[in-house]
Amino acid sequence: MKNDIQEYLDYVKKTGSRLSLYREISDFFNVKSALYPGSFIDIDPSLVIENVTYVDNFKGAVKFFKKNTLAIYDYLDKNKEYNSKCKINFISEDYTNDLIVDEVDLIISQYAGFVAQYTKKYLKSGGLVLANDSHGDASLTNFDKDFMLIGVINGDNIIDETELDTYFKLPKGKIVDLDIVRKKMKGLKYTKKPTNYIFRKR
Ligand SMILES: C[S@@+](CC[C@H](N)C(=O)[O-])C[C@H]1O[C@@H](n2cnc3c(N)ncnc32)[C@H](O)[C@@H]1O
Repeated sequence: MKNDIQEYLDYVKKTGSRLSLYREISDFFNVKSALYPGSFIDIDPSLVIENVTYVDNFKGAVKFFKKNTLAIYDYLDKNKEYNSKCKINFISEDYTNDLIVDEVDLIISQYAGFVAQYTKKYLKSGGLVLANDSHGDASLTNFDKDFMLIGVINGDNIIDETELDTYFKLPKGKIVDLDIVRKKMKGLKYTKKPTNYIFRKR
């Protein structure tokens, strides 16, 4: 019988698993709930976080979640790394629209535009954003007065909380122009480029 979640397994194989990244964040900060706007079908966060809301308006993602709900729960129940019940919610919406969601401990921003800017209102005070800078979301979050950078993550998926003032610096002391980031929807060529950044909402 065809595995209903084979599409997800193939996707993780293709993109590379981010499970150890999500595990590190979840364990380190005791994350219990997350919002993942622009998730596509990356359900790995639910293996380590008990309550995750996924948001995507791409029809492939909508179909995956709607068609395979039982298989997704079955897979997560068998493979999750926590004892409590797994809770997932999928919202087939543009995340820039108003969403009906409870406040969460963590927002996940991976290759999906300016996620944190549009969804920070759903983050608890003191909550976290995990973002890469592929689309410039980490850049915008870093210079947003609502957030402070509290850690970075490199290829080893270990959180580094040291020398945080050395990130988001351009060569030769050039000034960071966020209008360029917004226009190009792309991170800049900083002197140091960790794979991911962690921000705390003030
Ligand atoms: C490149 S994929 C990344 C998927 C996933 N975050 C990952 O890293 O594997 C970007 C996803 O974000 C979704 N996306 C982009 N902008 C969106 C928006 N405004 N509202 C909802 N989904 C969006 C796309 O539909 C797509 O599925």
